[in-house]
Amino acid sequence: MNNLSTISFPPFVLLMLCFTLSFQSSHQSHHHVISIHSLFPNCSSSKGTKKLSQSPSTLEIHQRHDLCWQPTSSSSDTTKSTQQLLEEDQSRVDTIQAKLSKKSKKQDPFQTKKITVPVQSGRSLGTGNYVVRVGFGTPKSDLSLIFDTGSDFTWIQCEPCVKACYDQQDPVFNPSNSKSYTNVTCDSQLCGPKLRSATSATPGCASSTCVYGIQYGDQSFSVGYFGVETITLGQDVFPNFYFGCGQNNQGLFGKSAGVLGLGRNSLSFVSQTATKYGNAFSYCLPAAASATGLLKFGSSNPYPRTVKFTPMLSRSDGASFYFLDLIGMSVGGYKLGISGSVFATGGTIIDSGTVITRLPPAAYEALRGAFRKAMAKYPLGKPASILDTCYDFTGYSTITIPKIGLFFRPGIEVGVDPLGVLIAASVSQVCLAFAPNGDPGDVGIYGNKQQVKLDVIYDVGNSKIGFGPGSCN
Ligand SMILES: *[C@@H]1O[C@H](CO)[C@@H](O)[C@H](O)[C@H]1NC(C)=O
Ligand SMILES: *[C@@H]1O[C@H](CO)[C@@H](O)[C@H](O)[C@H]1NC(C)=O
Repeated sequence: MNNLSTISFPPFVLLMLCFTLSFQSSHQSHHHVISIHSLFPNCSSSKGTKKLSQSPSTLEIHQRHDLCWQPTSSSSDTTKSTQQLLEEDQSRVDTIQAKLSKKSKKQDPFQTKKITVPVQSGRSLGTGNYVVRVGFGTPKSDLSLIFDTGSDFTWIQCEPCVKACYDQQDPVFNPSNSKSYTNVTCDSQLCGPKLRSATSATPGCASSTCVYGIQYGDQSFSVGYFGVETITLGQDVFPNFYFGCGQNNQGLFGKSAGVLGLGRNSLSFVSQTATKYGNAFSYCLPAAASATGLLKFGSSNPYPRTVKFTPMLSRSDGASFYFLDLIGMSVGGYKLGISGSVFATGGTIIDSGTVITRLPPAAYEALRGAFRKAMAKYPLGKPASILDTCYDFTGYSTITIPKIGLFFRPGIEVGVDPLGVLIAASVSQVCLAFAPNGDPGDVGIYGNKQQVKLDVIYDVGNSKIGFGPGSCN
């Protein structure tokens, strides 16, 4: 089985490994040697020295710039920001799991589940988000949007911000300055079940203009006019794009101008651009705040041989999400003994906005057991929020960690990049970046931390998701 992480090794690690391999037995290749330094993101962003393919449908991905949460290298303050990131991540997961919970299908997804994180941390779309720039209107204004495979509806903050707009980096879009903006009227066919299914909220009506509302958690939402506008991606222009022109927007969306919904619903960006892009997109998420990733629309079929595919599954109760079949895991080259039914019970989605991968409790226990065994020589540190396997690496300059692999149907193995295995709060609190679900029936989530540096290909038209060695760092 080809472990993808082999390919994404930084050259110096490869060199070290080759050196080691020529003298030692091959089990060494089941480990990564990483420097402690690499676990700490460098916030002073070095601007775009990297050459990007200038294909029209390729957008640069950046980490939300307010997300440069810098872990401290001292043990004194367990950085509030890492704690906050984890709590906000849990808030997103709670929202997703409530939507997919079989027990609470008929009720409002936001009321059904007790959310366990403190209220003052806010309820957000999630903190581990990535942004891309999309042009809106005529003449066009470029806006930074959080791209989100876990939601369908695209919205931006709009003047006159009747109720409220949060602070954003770009000037707030003003539809009255655009020649191509129109409101969708309440009698439009779209202002009904279609909009409802994209937003999970019944549309309203204000002086004959259709009003949408979308909520991501208790305190994070956007409400405004349902509109049609011309949008521009590179050279590609889409004249009749349906979106939300937000008049009341609150929550932790950072300084972004809104959200680009890449779910599967008929109103999602992917569906609305399907005639051009054929329901296909891919991304490579950068591991560091200073690095640039790529979000590419359209198919790159024929795919390189290094890309391995797993079937994309559908579930009627979770129409917007991308389900796939996680069937097993490996640690340090050994496949964990986890029964397939453990993963099958709640199913698994892949999500661009959840940071930490969530596993069924039994799968997490197996992973933790094997990981702790492989890491036995390092002292444990304090748990951090949802993460219970943390190490104190004070005094170490490099560490050796076991490789982690995820197996998807029909048996492809996707390696987790070394930077996707651990998350650092401080040098004395570096944690295994996986977490258990509370309930064996909750959906598992393949999070973005474990997707870094992979090319993740959503071939929605052909119902498959592919993983290849990434084109970003
Ligand atoms: C962060 O990056 C900048 C520029 O890339 C560099 O000058 C600086 O030394 C780096 N800082 C750390 C702590 O690595
Ligand atoms: C859209 O509808 C709202 C509410 O009816 C109205 O205030 C606004 O002027 C309309 N915008 C345009 C561009 O027609």
